[in-house]
Amino acid sequence: MGVSEIFRLEVGGDRLATLTFYLPGKKLNVFTRAALAELEERIDELGRRRDIGCLILLSGKDGGFIAGADVEEIARVADPLEAEAGARLGQRLFAAWEALPFPTVAAIRGVCVGGGTELSLASTWRVASDRKDTKIGLPEVRLGILPAWGGSNRLPRLIGIPEALEMILTGRNLSGRRALKVGLIDALIPDARFLDHVRDFALDKRDMPRKEGSGGVDLKELLLEKNPLGRKILFDQARKKTLEQTRGHYPAPLRAIEVVRIGLEDGRKAGFDAEARALADLATAQTSKNLVHVFGLQEGAKRAKGVPGGEAREVRRAAVLGAGVMGGGIAQIIAQEAGIPVRMKDLNDEALVSGMAHASGLFDRLVKKRRLESAEARRRMALLLPSLDYSGFGGADLVVEAIVEKMDVKQDAFAELARHVPETAVLASNTSSLSVAGIGAKTPNPGRVVGMHFFNPVHKMPLVEVIATDVSDPAAVNTVFDFTRRLGKIPVLVKDAPGFLVNRLLMFYSIEAYWLLHEGHRIEDLDTAMLDWGMPVGPLALGDDVGLDVAIKVAHILGEAFADRLPLPPWLNKMTESGRLGVKNGSGFYRYDGKERKGPDPSAYEVLGVRPRVENPDPNALAERMVLPMVNEAARCLEEGVVRSAAELDLAMIFATGFPPFRGGLCRWADHEGLPRLVATLERLEVAAGERFRPSDALRATAEAGGFYARFGGG
Ligand code: NAI
Repeated sequence: MGVSEIFRLEVGGDRLATLTFYLPGKKLNVFTRAALAELEERIDELGRRRDIGCLILLSGKDGGFIAGADVEEIARVADPLEAEAGARLGQRLFAAWEALPFPTVAAIRGVCVGGGTELSLASTWRVASDRKDTKIGLPEVRLGILPAWGGSNRLPRLIGIPEALEMILTGRNLSGRRALKVGLIDALIPDARFLDHVRDFALDKRDMPRKEGSGGVDLKELLLEKNPLGRKILFDQARKKTLEQTRGHYPAPLRAIEVVRIGLEDGRKAGFDAEARALADLATAQTSKNLVHVFGLQEGAKRAKGVPGGEAREVRRAAVLGAGVMGGGIAQIIAQEAGIPVRMKDLNDEALVSGMAHASGLFDRLVKKRRLESAEARRRMALLLPSLDYSGFGGADLVVEAIVEKMDVKQDAFAELARHVPETAVLASNTSSLSVAGIGAKTPNPGRVVGMHFFNPVHKMPLVEVIATDVSDPAAVNTVFDFTRRLGKIPVLVKDAPGFLVNRLLMFYSIEAYWLLHEGHRIEDLDTAMLDWGMPVGPLALGDDVGLDVAIKVAHILGEAFADRLPLPPWLNKMTESGRLGVKNGSGFYRYDGKERKGPDPSAYEVLGVRPRVENPDPNALAERMVLPMVNEAARCLEEGVVRSAAELDLAMIFATGFPPFRGGLCRWADHEGLPRLVATLERLEVAAGERFRPSDALRATAEAGGFYARFGGG
C-alpha cells in the first residue's frame, strides 16, 4: 500500500475504500505539484485494484475539503506553454479518476473550491456535510483565470448552463443547501456521524456501473441541443451582462463563457482544449497577476500585526457613542460579528430609534439572504441596547465614538466618557478628518484614545483605518486592530495625520476632478473616464454620495494642511451655499429622483460659473490626470510613515474606495506603468496645468529606488 504521505488509501473487507487527502504543513489541502504527482500514482494503482466496490474521497483536514490549486503556482507561472501543460495535467488526472472501474463519492465537508470542486465533478457522486461552513465554488475568475481541470466542461453538463455560468462567472460559493438545490451535490448529510452516513451512501452505490452516477441535466441539455437559438441567447446575455459589469477589464469571465460554449457545442475534447488554451493566455496575463497579488494582500492582512509593545485585550462588551449613519452601522456590525453586548448612546430618542431600525433592517437582510438563522439574528439584535445615558458603559472594554465631526464637541464627549467607563477601556473615535490626538487632548490618560475609522456604509466596506497617535498605548492600538479583524474587517494601521491615508489620497483625486471641471470639462466626461478606468464610482458622483457639505469641509481641512500642493477651486463653497448637498437632498453635481442618480445637473455649471466646452476629451489622459496626484501623494504618505508599506496602501485603497483590483492597487499600478514615465508626465502637467503637479521628492526617490514595492515593499 505504498508509502504515501498525502493520499492515504484504506480498503475494507466490505469493498468500501477511502482515499484521504491530507497535505502536511498546510491548513487546507491544495493541489501542489507533489500532491498531483502522488494522486497520479494513486489513480494508477486504484485502476488495477479489483477489491474495491466504491471509493470515498475524504479530507483529513478538519478545516475543509480541498482549496484548489496552489495559488503560488498560479502567481509564478509566466510561460503560456507551462500554464497549458498544467491545465492538461489536471484534466488528464481527473479524467483518469472519472474512468476508474468503480464508482467514487466525493465527501465534502467545509470549504471545497477550485480544483477541489473540479475533482468532485469528476467523481460519480458528490455529497456534502450540512456543516455551516460547507461551501462549494469555482472562484477562479477572481484570480483572473478559469476552471481548467475539466470544470468548465463538466459543470454545465451537470447543472445546466445558467447555473454553471452563474457559478463560474461570479466565482461565488454555494452553501450545501443551495448546492443540493441546483443539483451540484446528490445529498446533504448531517454533520453528526458524517462518515457513517457517507459510508451508508457509498455502500448503496457499491459495484454499481459508473455511468449510473448522477448524470446531470439530460433534459435541459437535450432542449438546449435542439434549440441552438435559446442557447445563443443564454450566452449572449451572459456576455452582455459581463461586459456591463466589467467594462471589459476582466478577460477571464468572457473567456469562460466561450469555453463553456465550445465544450457544449463541439464536445468534450474541444472543450478541454479550449480550457487549456484559455488558461495559458489568462494565467500569464497582467490582470491575473494583479488579482493574485490582491489575493496575497488579503491573505497578508489576515496575519498582519498591530504595533509592538503591548498585548491586545479581549473585548467582551462594547459601547457606541452616537446612533447616526455610522454609529448605528458600527453597533450593528459589532453585534453581528463579535456577538457581544453593545450599548448605543445618543442625545435624542429619534436617533436611537432610527439607529435600531437600521440595525434591525440589516439583520433582516441577512436572514433573507440565508446568511443567518432568524433565531440567531434575533439573539444578536437583542445584544444591542439603546440608551440616552451612560448606563451599561461601566462594563465596556471598548467605546467607539461616532458623533458630530466637531473638535470641541468630541473633546468634551471624550472627557465626559472617561468618567463613565473603566480605566482600562479603549476609547476609539470614528472621526474622518480630525486629529485623534486632538480629540483625546482633554481625556485623562489619553494613551487609551485610538482612531477606528470605518467607511460608509459600514456593513459593506471592508476596510478600517486604525489610527495610532504619538501617545497611543500599544495595547490600546492592538485591541482595536484585533477587534477590527473580529468584525470581519481589514485593519490597516495609519498615522494620525490629516485625512489619515485613504481620505488624503482621495482628496487629491477629487480636487483634481474639480479643477478639470473648472477648465471646462463635463461632469459626465470626468466620471465616465474614471468608471472606464475601473473605479466603481466617478469622483463627482462620489462627492454627491458622501455629501457635498462633508466633502467640502474635509477639502478645506486638507487644503489647509497641504496648502503647497492642494489648492482648492475658487467656487468650491458655492455648491453648498446654493443648497446642493448631494444625494441626501437630491441635488448636487447630478439630479436625483429619490436616491436614484439621473443625468448631470446643467445648472451646477451656472452656480459654479464654469462653462462646459471641451469636446471629446481623451478619457485616458483625464484619468491619468486624476490618478497621478494620488500617486504623487502616496509616495509622501509612505515616506512620512503614514502607512507602513506599499502593500498596505494598496490594500487600503482597494477595500475602502474600490480602487480597481485588476490593477493590483495604486502602487502596484504605478510600478507597472513605470515611475520614470509617471514622473515625466507629472513634470509635463506641472508646466501645462499647474504647480500642484510637481513630482514630490518622495516620488522621485521612489522612482530611483526602482518603484513603490522595491522601496516600501511589504508584499
Ligand atoms: P450623524 O449626524 O448621522 O450621526 C451623529 C449622531 O451623533 C447623531 O445622531 C447625534 O444626535 C449624535 N450625537 C451628537 N453629539 C452626541 C453626544 N455628545 N453624545 C451622543 N450622541 C451624540 O453623523 P455620521 O455621518 O454618523 O458621522 C459620525 C462620525 O463618523 C463623524 O465623526 C464623521 O466624521 C464620521 N464618519 C462619517 C462617515 C460618513 O460617511 N458619514 C464616514 C466615516 C466617518
